[in-house]
Amino acid sequence: MNTLRVKDLLLTEPGGGPVTVSGWVRTKRDTKTVCFFELNDGSCLANLQVIVDKESSDSAGELDRLQTGASVEITGIIVASPGENQRVELSASQVVVIGEAPTDSYPLQKKRHSFEFLREIAHLRPRTNTFGAVARVRNAASFAIHRFFQERGFIYVHTPIITASDAEGAGEMFQVTTLPLGNLAETESVDYTRDFFGKPAYLTVSGQLNAEIYACALERVYTFGPTFRAENSNTTRHLAEFWMIEPEMAFCDITCNMDIAEAFIKFVLSEILEKCAEDMEFFDARIQPGLLESLRKVKDTPFARVTYSEAMDRLKGSGEEFAFPVSWGSDLQSEHEKYLTEKVYDGPIIVTDYPKQIKAFYMKQNDDGRTVRAMDVLVPRLGEIIGGSQREENEDLLTRRIRELGLKEESYWWYLELRKFGTVPHSGFGLGFERLVQYLTGMQNIRDVIPFPRAVKTADF
Ligand code: 4AD
Ligand code: MG
Repeated sequence: MNTLRVKDLLLTEPGGGPVTVSGWVRTKRDTKTVCFFELNDGSCLANLQVIVDKESSDSAGELDRLQTGASVEITGIIVASPGENQRVELSASQVVVIGEAPTDSYPLQKKRHSFEFLREIAHLRPRTNTFGAVARVRNAASFAIHRFFQERGFIYVHTPIITASDAEGAGEMFQVTTLPLGNLAETESVDYTRDFFGKPAYLTVSGQLNAEIYACALERVYTFGPTFRAENSNTTRHLAEFWMIEPEMAFCDITCNMDIAEAFIKFVLSEILEKCAEDMEFFDARIQPGLLESLRKVKDTPFARVTYSEAMDRLKGSGEEFAFPVSWGSDLQSEHEKYLTEKVYDGPIIVTDYPKQIKAFYMKQNDDGRTVRAMDVLVPRLGEIIGGSQREENEDLLTRRIRELGLKEESYWWYLELRKFGTVPHSGFGLGFERLVQYLTGMQNIRDVIPFPRAVKTADF
């Protein structure tokens, strides 16, 4: 493995000794005496231009096998480039084609392919500019997220993927079983004692309930892991498998929760603007014009904080015709969220105190008997990016709510015990990682910001 990457070579001064670099050919151009090609190794967006003098190089024979998509190893010297597009280029003395990519069958010949087409070739799409840039931003955002929490004394907790409890109480779980499903279709009732765990088990929709256990011992914790939802939503914002970051803080009320959420988004955003400058300029130029300016503004502006009731009043008074009617008690639809963030507040907002009937059972009930201490962060272009709340820490109120909603009390016995022994006001939230990456990059479809998307009725994996 070569230690030198294109990213580093592009920054070196001309005139040093020989270097060896490897990667994939993006484009190739020939004249009678010289072959030019662009080399990319994924270390950055930019390619390294390589020049081979057909007469003096001993690699002339290799050049016929060198086509778009081929993998190569090149040795040469970094020289000043006479061209306008790059400061330096690699003057090759030796070119070795490691793996050919036949022109008649390699799919990535054209400069630009539609994202729909690229979704069908998930094994090759990371070799394009856009998907390389998304992968680097996703990586840098993960790192920034860990940094944010680690620098503030949060403990990273690994919560389980397989669970028996429905954390959101919304019944959108995938079941995990070793029972022979084909045979079961013929029987009336399922004997779960024969199943792997001896009872029904599911893929988790959220690590929150487990994170609460650790927050009620270590005060500040967070999870960052995959979550699964069998939501029948075929949209540009929904996946069946997505990653979520869930901090959970003891001795923290809803205001403290909002402060952390806002600081968190601003931190990650600043890190990405700084660490991924080249990729972000690409997204600004090619994917979402105005992206950089709008993100820079978000970094420096406080998020507006409004109650659900105020938001409803704003929508009702807007004179706008919405496809979904605006009435107190119904959930904010994505069109409402977009209107509020784009037209009314022109930036991210935090909406609090939602009606209890549209929120999960665990949220702290307000004294008005109608609303709960929920807080959602909504952003322009996307709508909801964070969902969170202060948690109900009163054992009686929580038990009553679980019964009211017809949830199985016995599955939450340990969750209720957290309220029996040393209960404490606590809060937390969940940030959908792919929605964040969409927000940062301007990518329209959530299926293009996760390496291998799983969504309803997509079975091409
Ligand atoms: O609002 P949600 O459902 O909140 C929870 O799961 C809480 N347990 C979080 C907590 O308080 N610890 O989901 C949180 C976020 C959403 O705001 C959204 O960004 C993302 O997860 N999300 C999805 N992202 C992609 N595909 C889906 N199907 C998503 N469902 C939710
Ligand atoms: Mg939500």
